[in-house]
Amino acid sequence: MREETIRISEAEMNQQRQFAQEFFQLPDRPKTYFIVTYGCQMNAHDSEKLAGMLEDMGLTAAPKKEEADFVLHNTCCIRDNAERKALGNVTWLKEVKKERPEMMIGVCGCMVQEPGMADKLLRQYPFVDVAFGTGNIHQLPELLYRAVDTRRRVVAVPEEQSTLIEGLPIRRESDFQSYVTIMYGCNNFCSYCIVPYVRGRERSRSADDILREVEALQKNGVQEIMLLGQNVNSYGNDMPGGVTFPQLLHKISQAGIPRIRFMTSHPKDLSDELIEEMARNPVLCRHLHLPVQAGSNKILTAMNRRYTRESYLEKVEKIRAAAPDVGLTTDIIVAFPGETEADFEDTMSLVRQVGYDSAFTFIYSPRTGTRAADMPGRVDPAVATQRIEKLIALQEEMTAKAFASLIGTKESVLVTGASRRSSQQLTGKCSRNISINFEGSPDLIGQIVPVRITAASKTTLKGEIIEGE
Ligand code: SAH
Ligand code: SF4
Ligand code: F3S
Repeated sequence: MREETIRISEAEMNQQRQFAQEFFQLPDRPKTYFIVTYGCQMNAHDSEKLAGMLEDMGLTAAPKKEEADFVLHNTCCIRDNAERKALGNVTWLKEVKKERPEMMIGVCGCMVQEPGMADKLLRQYPFVDVAFGTGNIHQLPELLYRAVDTRRRVVAVPEEQSTLIEGLPIRRESDFQSYVTIMYGCNNFCSYCIVPYVRGRERSRSADDILREVEALQKNGVQEIMLLGQNVNSYGNDMPGGVTFPQLLHKISQAGIPRIRFMTSHPKDLSDELIEEMARNPVLCRHLHLPVQAGSNKILTAMNRRYTRESYLEKVEKIRAAAPDVGLTTDIIVAFPGETEADFEDTMSLVRQVGYDSAFTFIYSPRTGTRAADMPGRVDPAVATQRIEKLIALQEEMTAKAFASLIGTKESVLVTGASRRSSQQLTGKCSRNISINFEGSPDLIGQIVPVRITAASKTTLKGEIIEGE
């Protein structure tokens, strides 16, 4: 089963631009917007595109969602709590809408793309005016136009997720750190995961389109880009004979942007070529997010991750040998169906062995339609909570160790902001993606400065600027 990627044509994009223009002329059109974003960087970046389109339609950002004429929820459904949070907040707005009936409410993103969700929104959420999926965000001008023009609810969710959308306006959150999507979708079907169902199959953007975007960002003074994909290591697999991910990194790093990051690397596709590129290319940040999910081979097989504990650890060793200064982080799921105490201990021992800088830890959440949802051996919630607490405590120990080893080193830090308490207290990220706080002038925000690490706390490092460098 292979769906063909359909690149949205210039004609259709022009049609949408036309809707954006005509939207201006509508009487009683919404004039301000607020976007509430849930989920991962993909969604955060989609929200930048949604904001770009809304601004092209003449809407301006409202300071608070209660005050906005159009509130759009860009949702996530990776775990049950993500979904409940989004639906809870949508429902909360119903009360605000009673006071301000002209307010329009929109829902988009991964949750809307779930089978049956569009119907549920229609039936149970009559106060939602517009809903659309991840596959048709480019149609926002048309959908909003129709909703305002007809005063009827508009729901549009494409069944097939095979589109590649280029040329959307982007209103970027930061002037110096930017997301660049290199591929959409996922082919991996990890048995617990809903992403392949709501984001469709892998579609890589052409290297030329990506490079054009990166070069424009460089001209605008961007200091750091984050390349996005569910599994960046399989970039280009859908374009045989094309550019591989390490080759793409190599090309992008010549554009003159000081720092490049990427997310996420699937361990099964982490190649020697990528490790070599990371080892020799100083533009690539010293950070690799390499989600392991579990430490037991039985669970890894049931998860359909397609690597073993041993092959994962082998890759970790290769990275450590080739690029010892690279910090590793990971994602871990506890209480996957069938996980015994011994399986969980395998996860604990792997975490101890690798020594991650940090880890995102999750309790398994069954997602309707995925294979794991029908697997026997659900773990008792109380046991799941005990396990995650134990794992978090262990990771805190490992983080403390990793951070302590950095005291006294010199790091280059991209200054991202000032602390809320004092404008002289700056915060930023080192190449290894750890937050560092230090004193300095707010004029430095957006610049990369050398910092000596002086102390470590639980989640951040403390340092001081090295003057005269
Ligand atoms: N593409 C990325 C992950 C995207 S989702 C990758 O493969 O690494 C981010 C994380 O959410 C996953 O790594 C996983 O740890 C977690 N996750 C996904 N589905 C989940 C579920 N059903 N229950 C609990 N955690 C889940
Ligand atoms: Fe989900 Fe697995 Fe794809 Fe990541 S690689 S998005 S965990 S199916
Ligand atoms: Fe991301 Fe959540 Fe969708 S993690 S891809 S926003 S389901």
